[in-house]
Amino acid sequence: MQSILSLLLLFLANTTTGYLTPDPPGKYNVTLTTGPLIDYARNGRALMLSVFQPSTCASTVPVRYMPKKTAEFQGPFIQAIYNTTLNLTPLFLEAQLPVCSGHSGSCSDDHPILLFSPAYSIPRVYYSVLASAIASNGFIVITIDNPGIADIITYPDGHAVYNNDTEQSLTYIKTQIPIVATDASFVIDQLSNATAMAKLLPHRGPRPFPTDRVAMMGHSLGGVASVIAAGQDSRIRGAINWDATFIQLPPKSGVSQPVLLMSHGMADYSWPEAWPRLKGPKLWVNIANTTHATFTDVPILLQAAGQDLAATADLLGAIAPTEMLRILVAYTTAWMDGVFAGKIGGPLLESHQPSKFPEATIIKTGNF
Ligand SMILES: *[C@@H]1O[C@H](CO)[C@@H](O)[C@H](O)[C@H]1NC(C)=O
Ligand SMILES: *[C@@H]1O[C@H](CO)[C@@H](O)[C@H](O)[C@H]1NC(C)=O
Ligand SMILES: *[C@@H]1O[C@H](CO)[C@@H](O)[C@H](O)[C@H]1NC(C)=O
Ligand SMILES: *[C@@H]1O[C@H](CO)[C@@H](O)[C@H](O)[C@H]1NC(C)=O
Ligand SMILES: *[C@@H]1O[C@H](CO)[C@@H](O)[C@H](O)[C@H]1NC(C)=O
Repeated sequence: MQSILSLLLLFLANTTTGYLTPDPPGKYNVTLTTGPLIDYARNGRALMLSVFQPSTCASTVPVRYMPKKTAEFQGPFIQAIYNTTLNLTPLFLEAQLPVCSGHSGSCSDDHPILLFSPAYSIPRVYYSVLASAIASNGFIVITIDNPGIADIITYPDGHAVYNNDTEQSLTYIKTQIPIVATDASFVIDQLSNATAMAKLLPHRGPRPFPTDRVAMMGHSLGGVASVIAAGQDSRIRGAINWDATFIQLPPKSGVSQPVLLMSHGMADYSWPEAWPRLKGPKLWVNIANTTHATFTDVPILLQAAGQDLAATADLLGAIAPTEMLRILVAYTTAWMDGVFAGKIGGPLLESHQPSKFPEATIIKTGNF
């Protein structure tokens, strides 16, 4: 019996192309639909979206994690901007995401929508495991690529748009914040455009989404842009900033929506400065043993691929990737549940469960 099993494993090891990322941890599985959303009022600007919808399918199928063209671009690009020999191309090429196959009508619209905005020059597909984990807890998560900001966006027809900026100057990155905010407002406009939604999600038919239950979150540039966008668009009911310096401070008049900040220990000057301008419920959680890059799928992909994590600890943090995933998902979903319930609180956010996640520490809290 034992030897049959080992033979079988050997057989699988030799025939399987790639590896599967972890199943989403929540009470749902997810469907994934990708496609462009085109802003005809801004020269046909084509955002690329991944829409993760909670669904009740009892089994999943593996789908390619990242378009081949995008994956092949990442190796050399990341090597150039991080000055590392780590080549991420194979990791991305071989990853498979478990999602519900087809659309059997088991997706409900009855979930709030979270817009997710990536880091500067990092494509949205770096966050698909995190997005599906959040979606599996009952949110429609829409990750968004902004042309000129993502290093590469590969469209369904195979063509790509590049941003070859390897300098990554903060002065330049700052100029992209209003663009990300405008793109987010455009996506919210289009949620109520039945024709645009039917093109993006053909299985749903021409029905608008309600726009009164939308919030925004993001990593790095996407995180600070989420807070700035919330200050400008009152349809954004709450915001989460994962580990971004406030290279643009919230307006002096303040941002009234609930804002969650999650940091990797940088605690830079900008957060205490931004804090008084957050006028709604607010929470700052720090996560020990992480780096800026831990707030992406990369650590969880390395683990799923069976790579040696010690070799990348300097770049990606020493925290166990599954623990990081649990922390990000727990705080994000608790925060967004509170946003849409109109009442932020509960044991995790109120610091009554300090032993649940030893790496997570509440630094500051206000207005709830
Ligand atoms: C999701 O799919 C997996 C198979 O990939 C299955 O084991 C699990 O039970 C499903 N979860 C739900 C909530 O249906
Ligand atoms: C890149 O890394 C190499 C080796 O680690 C180092 O010698 C070099 O100075 C670094 N270059 C830059 C621009 O930081
Ligand atoms: C950006 O990089 C892509 C892929 O390497 C290349 O095809 C394109 O010409 C570059 N664009 C610019 C403006 O350098
Ligand atoms: C709605 O979407 C369709 C299809 O993308 C587009 O042609 C139309 O201009 C949009 N309408 C508005 C008001 O944005
Ligand atoms: C950080 O990681 C080290 C080594 O794994 C561990 O000993 C330490 O407890 C961790 N710190 C926190 C705050 O969890």
